[in-house]
Amino acid sequence: MRHLQPKLLFILALLIFTGKSTAQNNTIIEATLEHKVDSVLSLMTLQEKIGQLNQYNGSWDVTGIPSDIDNKTKLEKLKNGDVGSMLNVLTVEATREAQSLVMEHSRLKIPLIFGYDVIHGYKTIFPTPLAESASWDLEAMKLSASIAAKEASAEGLHWTFAPMIDVSRDARWGRIMEGSGEDPFLTSAIGVARIQGFQGNDLSDPHTIAACAKHFAGYGFAESGRDYNTVNIGEHELQNVILPPFKAASDAGVATFMNAFNEIDGQPATANSYLQRTLLKGEWGFDGFVVSDWGSIAELIPHGVAKNKLEAANLAIHAGSDMDMEGRVYEDGLKTLVEQNRLDIALIDDAVKRVLRVKFRLGLFDDPYRYSNAKREKTDILTKEHLAISRDVAKKSIVLLKNEKSLLPLSKTAKNIAVIGPLANDKDSPIGNWRAQGEKNSAVSVLEGITNAMGKNANISYAKGTDLSIGERSFLAPLTLNTTDTSGFNEAITIAKHADVVLMVLGEDAFQSGEGRSQANIGFAGLQQELLEAVYAVNKNIVLVLMNGRPMEISWAADHIPAILEVWHLGSEHGNAVADVLFGDDNPSGKLPVSFPRAVGQEPFYYNQKNTGRPSANKEVTYSHHNDVSNEALFPFGYGLSYTSFKYSEVKLSSNSFHPNETVTASVDITNIGKREGKEIVQLYIRDLVGSITRPIKELKGFEIIELKPGETKTVSFKITAELLSFFTANKKWETEAGDFHIFIGSNSTVNAYSKLEFVKN
Ligand code: NOJ
Repeated sequence: MRHLQPKLLFILALLIFTGKSTAQNNTIIEATLEHKVDSVLSLMTLQEKIGQLNQYNGSWDVTGIPSDIDNKTKLEKLKNGDVGSMLNVLTVEATREAQSLVMEHSRLKIPLIFGYDVIHGYKTIFPTPLAESASWDLEAMKLSASIAAKEASAEGLHWTFAPMIDVSRDARWGRIMEGSGEDPFLTSAIGVARIQGFQGNDLSDPHTIAACAKHFAGYGFAESGRDYNTVNIGEHELQNVILPPFKAASDAGVATFMNAFNEIDGQPATANSYLQRTLLKGEWGFDGFVVSDWGSIAELIPHGVAKNKLEAANLAIHAGSDMDMEGRVYEDGLKTLVEQNRLDIALIDDAVKRVLRVKFRLGLFDDPYRYSNAKREKTDILTKEHLAISRDVAKKSIVLLKNEKSLLPLSKTAKNIAVIGPLANDKDSPIGNWRAQGEKNSAVSVLEGITNAMGKNANISYAKGTDLSIGERSFLAPLTLNTTDTSGFNEAITIAKHADVVLMVLGEDAFQSGEGRSQANIGFAGLQQELLEAVYAVNKNIVLVLMNGRPMEISWAADHIPAILEVWHLGSEHGNAVADVLFGDDNPSGKLPVSFPRAVGQEPFYYNQKNTGRPSANKEVTYSHHNDVSNEALFPFGYGLSYTSFKYSEVKLSSNSFHPNETVTASVDITNIGKREGKEIVQLYIRDLVGSITRPIKELKGFEIIELKPGETKTVSFKITAELLSFFTANKKWETEAGDFHIFIGSNSTVNAYSKLEFVKN
């Protein structure tokens, strides 16, 4: 690439740079970039262009079912410039090797872009994305994404397939662990924070990587929570719930998008031109590229909208899918389509330009090996500093669900603690399922964490009680649960009998959630419920430490167990972070980003539901409810306790009505009425009482984290604008309708007290 015109243009741009404003400089940068992209494009043959749209899998990790191309052919294709990107090629050595095949042999030497699923850390593993979302701490999530980027880029990677910003309301869906839960506002804010963390301010900085907003769109709404299943969403649900995080990602400058495996209303997302062309590349002005999901272009055939690969390629390219991930469809199909005059070359050019743009932004044309730095590979990965940050984020992600009689925090000098459960000494599940290069069994277990915390005086007895899973655990291996072996029960019961307090560490194996790991049941798998009840029969002083990827059905435990701590899968420092909270070195402040149902039959279950025509709860039969379970969540969205307590004043509004272009301030005083310093996540909700379409009974519209000493009061204020109250109306556009709103500020989504606000248009 060294001899091409772009370099010259770059130098020219630098010369005229000085003395300009940032906006002017940005315009110059973009104009220069377009010149570079155009000049490269003008040199390319059709085959070379198609090569840029082709992504192959390497074999350094398994994140899908690889197609059966032999290695020799793959190498030849790389040398020939027939591959634009690879995924799952890792390490400085391997990325250099693959890049050199292109740089030394291909005619135009257009660098490869290496992608990988860096979902919640690279080697230093952070809490799973859902867990981390429970912190609501945008700066913390930005920081963890930036560390993931630093580690991944040190091994030669340029691009992560994250963040997943699919809103999901279904705990059965295995990939709910990979997102930010059920709320579009929270998911948007977290998605933007993660994008900023991965990409930093400058994509060409070799410590940052390109992010990917996925899966566009609707993947989190699979029927019955079954992964890859059909999605049926109405237009308003799509616009008001699913798309806002993607719009926010596009506005935040995310480099790439990934489309999705699912169909929406009969149209597979990969072949959906409204989403990819009209909206994303049209109305939203996104100028990066869209990669397909793994093989999703070829999957248009089993979906039944294409009869063969050629037709699949035709649908996908016309719909705006730019790069074919492991589908092996574009590499042959696009040329034939052009030859048959069925595909305008302008569409291929547009897709190629998008890919080149991102490669230029990453600085790959300046130095294709700039990320493959052997020194950084040794110094930048799994550092003490990264582990300390992982522990900090992990603590922030923990949610205290129940704490009767202030059983928690425990004293470090407690006489005798029994630690029981199949997950208590599990060093692997905390790493999660999307573990990138997180090493097997490398996490600090809960048992290790509390032993570290208690030191020499520790009087801890431990019994596993039962196995949760048996056999192989890996990305493509089905998980086998233990449903028969109760031989460990007696030991557990014996140590429980003699303990002052019992820590039951139960929940889900890491491989119970993630891709392809949906479940029809979301209670305790295996023999865990039986174990819990057997221990409860001899000692009721139990703290349940819940480790899981998804919201679970734990009604029995919620009724009987005095203290419950939701710790999810927290990554490398799992056990230390749990111990920090158990012993009160840290006061928990996490809040649920998803509702916990009372029964799996309530799923999909979410707080921002509609009122229905029959909302009455006056105990008649004919209103919207289940006969056998209350409509209320077991633990609602936004909920989480602290070791202290907070009192909220009434909501004060600076005005009770407002017009377009005006702002109303809603504020509340919050007082720490307990005995410890603590953090509170203050949440703003609104209700739009009458709309041109039905409106949710509550919608999150703001949040702020505050810290209060005992007795201290702080005022928290939120600005309310017309834009904040806008939605996709019956007019099929985003606008704010005149009328009455309720404004709530509280500690979770069940907050009742509100102030009235009117929006007046004339
Ligand atoms: C399939 C998953 O759906 C997607 O999220 C992931 O990025 C790709 N496989 C690549 O591993």
